[in-house]
Amino acid sequence: MSEQRLQKVLAAAGVDSRRKCEELILDGAVRVNRKVVDKLPAFVDPEKDLITVNGRKIHAAQKVYFLLNKPTGVICTNRDPHGRKKAIDLVSARERIFCVGRLDADTTGIIILTNDSELANRLAHPRYGLAKTYVVRVKGEIAGERIEKLKRGIWLAEGKTGRASVKILKRGHKESLIEVTIRQGLNRQVRRMLAKVGLPVRTLTRTRIGKLSSRGLGVGNFRALTKAEVAYLKKATAG
Ligand code: URA
Repeated sequence: MSEQRLQKVLAAAGVDSRRKCEELILDGAVRVNRKVVDKLPAFVDPEKDLITVNGRKIHAAQKVYFLLNKPTGVICTNRDPHGRKKAIDLVSARERIFCVGRLDADTTGIIILTNDSELANRLAHPRYGLAKTYVVRVKGEIAGERIEKLKRGIWLAEGKTGRASVKILKRGHKESLIEVTIRQGLNRQVRRMLAKVGLPVRTLTRTRIGKLSSRGLGVGNFRALTKAEVAYLKKATAG
């Protein structure tokens, strides 16, 4: 394992928040290989270095990986000054986990939660761009040229979005159901893309992240990823 910031390793091991761990370090409570480390930045290899806090050995946190089917009204952040319900509250884990990327509060569907920041960073990196599929209920009728525009990419404030796959699941006069697959993760991307082609989103659900799917996972429920699924995510973002 590569070197990581000392406060991050302490926080991941459940000692306290990163900020509090920085204070512990600066107060001289932390030793690495028996020597006090009271200056920052400090880097350690949690698998090789012996780290103690006030004389007690800390154990590098085991890496954990979960898939949650997020309900609406739940947010993907670890700290919320408004006290809203958080995705991490729905997953029972002893480790300090966080969401990989985000789903809007009003979006349902699958999201990965983990304490593996290395994998999380890779999954969020546009270079690896795993395909993410959304089922979208939109207001309005699906016309051919709207779908073609979506497929080719849409100009948003950040630039033109990449090519999207679009499937029509149900066509109606007032409302239609479509499946959109994209590889980027811009803020409110699907909602903004659809608004640009005159199809306001009524409901949005993420059903797939690469090979992972929501199948069998009820809204509000979570499960641990299997070893094979974790290996797949690591392989998909390697190199
Ligand atoms: N695109 C959106 O607009 N919202 C989400 O939550 C995810 C993708």
